[in-house]
Amino acid sequence: MLLIQEDARGDKPGLKYNRLRDAPVSAAWSEPEAREDKIHQIHLYPARFPAFIVERALEYAAARGVEVTRVGDVFCGSGTVTQVAGARNLEFWGCDINPVATLIARVKSARGEPERFNELAADISANFDRASSVPDLSPDAVSRLAPWYRPDQFGDLAKLRNAIGAKVPASDPSRAAFDCAFSAIVKPASQWRKRSVKPAMDARKAPTAVLQAFVRQCDFMSDAWAAMPNRPAPSAEILDGDVNTIERPNFPIDLIITSPPYATSYEYADVHQLSALWLGYADDHRRLRAGVIGTSTRRTDLGRALRHLNSIGMQVVFSLFEKDRALAEAMATYFLDMQKAVGRCHEFLRPGGICVFVVGNTQLNGVRIDNANHMVESLLAAGFTDIRVVKRSVTNKPNTPYRHPNGRLSSQPTGMHIYAEEFVLMAERR
Ligand SMILES: C[S@@+](CC[C@H](N)C(=O)[O-])C[C@H]1O[C@@H](n2cnc3c(N)ncnc32)[C@H](O)[C@@H]1O
Repeated sequence: MLLIQEDARGDKPGLKYNRLRDAPVSAAWSEPEAREDKIHQIHLYPARFPAFIVERALEYAAARGVEVTRVGDVFCGSGTVTQVAGARNLEFWGCDINPVATLIARVKSARGEPERFNELAADISANFDRASSVPDLSPDAVSRLAPWYRPDQFGDLAKLRNAIGAKVPASDPSRAAFDCAFSAIVKPASQWRKRSVKPAMDARKAPTAVLQAFVRQCDFMSDAWAAMPNRPAPSAEILDGDVNTIERPNFPIDLIITSPPYATSYEYADVHQLSALWLGYADDHRRLRAGVIGTSTRRTDLGRALRHLNSIGMQVVFSLFEKDRALAEAMATYFLDMQKAVGRCHEFLRPGGICVFVVGNTQLNGVRIDNANHMVESLLAAGFTDIRVVKRSVTNKPNTPYRHPNGRLSSQPTGMHIYAEEFVLMAERR
């Protein structure tokens, strides 16, 4: 492990641009052979990280002598950390700004009740044909959703939504599980291009039949719960909110394990727009971009950024400025947001607590976006000490590292490059 410490005089050690070059690759943190529990596959989520990372972070905390009863994740996404913490009988506090993410995270972390879920699922399916095909949505939401569907598919999804509403009212504890099941099929039932993480229409795609997809999805979820230990879930607080403005947890956290969003890579509000509109989280999904870290739609005035960006953030933003001013402004926003988020993690941890960040570098317009080095500098500035760093190789990355600007993979080199390794940064709060 590479160890980075503040030097004796309290100065930041020479913040060379590529100071993490010497971080060793760790086999323990790289992909294991074992398959993950089914529960982690109940809903697709972009940039979800593998569950074993949580196990490694817990082992690391134990090796450092940190007693962990409360785990946190400030970018909790689809709830990988939440789920593993719960299975280990640990309390959890987490947040995410994307309501589709927190829905999945809550469902994954709750103790499933397969029998009741199966009964309700059978009732919903039996009522499907009788349900109205008029959606209970605002005209705005309908006008945004309808173009993504063939008319019969749209009508079937409205029927399913109405059948769920009739059998499982919003106040029922099982409702979140059915919202999650519904959310998992809205894309396969649409003309959204398969596997695309950007909104892209594919008129020739044969969409999956709604009722069959719902039945399959419910069976999958039920099997996933059946495979989990049947004991009461410990307390998990999963909040909808922005890490940089959310109220700090009532009880400090012992161990934060998190993977931040990448810059300008996934527009989470756009990727999940079909779910967000169907589930009534917004009538216009663009509203959900507010506060999202890494969106290209938020830009900072560079004059302000220069006063607050750390040195690595500044180098990257200057390198981009020559090529694409708008991108430089979006990157400046990203780096400032991340600097603040690191400070929030410091605030949320108890003294002696540990933070584990899983961070990847990218390349945009030919410029290396050195998130890992930026994070190290942010951690030191926030007051963290004893930063230990390893690289992990990411074998399930696609076989080309290049992407087109629309997000699709490219076999030819492009200005957008993703790496086959990530950094694990572990830092302690004194
Ligand atoms: C890399 S993903 C996390 C994936 C997660 N580890 C999992 O396994 O599903 C990053 C997450 O950060 C969230 N995010 C972006 N901006 C945020 C903000 N300001 N506050 C909290 N979460 C935010 C995104 O919605 C996304 O879910």
